[in-house]
Amino acid sequence: GAESTVTITVVGASGDLAKKKIFPALFALYYEGCLPKHFTIYGYARSKMTDAELRNIISGKLTCRIDKSENCGDKTEEFLQRCFYHSGQYKSEDDFRELDKKLKEHETGRVANRLFYLSIPPNVFVDVARCASCSSSSANGWTRVIVEKPFGRDSESSAELTKGLKQYLSEEQIYRIDHYLGKELVENLSVLRFSNLVFEPLWSRQYIRNVQLIFSEDFGTEGRGGYFDNYGIIRDIMQNHLLQILALFAMETPVSLDGEDIRNEKVKVLRSMMPLQLENIVIGQYKSHVKGGVTYPGYTDDKTVPKNSLTPTFAAAALFIDNSRWDGVPFLMKAGKALHNRRTEIRVQFRHVPGNLYKKKFGTDLDRATNELVIRVQPDEAIYLKINNKIPGLGMRLDRSNLNLHYAARYSGEIPDAYERLLLDAIEGERRLFIRSDELDAAWSLFTPMLKELESKKVAPELYPYGSRGPVGAHYLAAKYNVRWGDTS
Ligand code: BG6
Repeated sequence: GAESTVTITVVGASGDLAKKKIFPALFALYYEGCLPKHFTIYGYARSKMTDAELRNIISGKLTCRIDKSENCGDKTEEFLQRCFYHSGQYKSEDDFRELDKKLKEHETGRVANRLFYLSIPPNVFVDVARCASCSSSSANGWTRVIVEKPFGRDSESSAELTKGLKQYLSEEQIYRIDHYLGKELVENLSVLRFSNLVFEPLWSRQYIRNVQLIFSEDFGTEGRGGYFDNYGIIRDIMQNHLLQILALFAMETPVSLDGEDIRNEKVKVLRSMMPLQLENIVIGQYKSHVKGGVTYPGYTDDKTVPKNSLTPTFAAAALFIDNSRWDGVPFLMKAGKALHNRRTEIRVQFRHVPGNLYKKKFGTDLDRATNELVIRVQPDEAIYLKINNKIPGLGMRLDRSNLNLHYAARYSGEIPDAYERLLLDAIEGERRLFIRSDELDAAWSLFTPMLKELESKKVAPELYPYGSRGPVGAHYLAAKYNVRWGDTS
């Protein structure tokens, strides 16, 4: 048959995400020989720009991960020569038809596959989907569209967006990205669970006391206040990134590794969860803080944020899964900006050993003696298990020690960026790591009632200083369920 070609159009090419993540990821794929032989990349945005100007903008962000010294320059140049720019409005079918003509020049005589990456605000998603689908007449190739959150702000707006997109695209053509699913240690979760006898049998309420999903960043919303204020941390991080990790963590064993089988299990576990109650959420907002002579701005110091904004930049939540595996086990989430460190981790705290022979050694604080499995998603990827161990010597003194799989020590080479894996999957038609519409609905159902209550009651966030560990309310929430946050003890 005829050879095929793929054109990748980055809509919103002048935006931050495109520059920082999408073009560099495409280059990394090219550099590693993962892109198809015939490919062309188009940047599409409203600003007027030449191909050379686009190349200039992106070239500074491209890095060669392996053999840094060798053919890096040549490869970069080759890649840039395959990047082009087309300026157009997001709602203009005519502008997209012009793009279509240009794409066709690269497609002649080949099966034409097209991937559109919508790196644009969601209010133009549907327009672009309409324009992109009418322009692409690639009868014998595929057309796929990658969209990135926010997918609405609640159940209703999300359903509306889905309905809008489905006027022009089938579910199979829509690739909803949650870039946390492309992270190495998140992908590894299934391997860890399902291929290790020492973990899989323990993965239930019988042995697990609580699970903690922790996201923290040591910077604020500087420069993104305008976007952020309309969403807040619950919609920005919890409803998607942390909930996706939770679903992978807690789902039942899928029938196979096939994308549909995995997503079926994820939906099932999400649908087994109880909608979040207002009393199970604590919110916070960072305020300015002076440290070492430097003033770190508060959230509302940002000019694009209203002075009286109640938008949370921090939240802690307790969620429960109402099924036989997880009944009664608290799943605690914590997400915040402008905290003391940048870290994402999953912490699994196991139960006490019944009748522990050594309990006297731990005094009254048996909790400190339980095993804890930590999966550090970033930075400095690691999986470690806290165990009790005898300190060598004639006495009998015990110690908490780690069985530690530290990625930097065990594996050479850099870990690929999440966008590389996800873009490659989209090109290959692998949908496993993308969010299906029923998953999205289930995710919104869990958060929407609570979000509405929070907003209608105008619940004030607890203020915390920039660079701190966040509001103390998070500890009270955890304590209500006999949980101690693993990252602070
Ligand atoms: C994005 C959020 O989805 O994820 C940002 O909108 C957040 O607020 C970012 O900073 C974090 O991603 P990463 O990969 O840098 O941890």
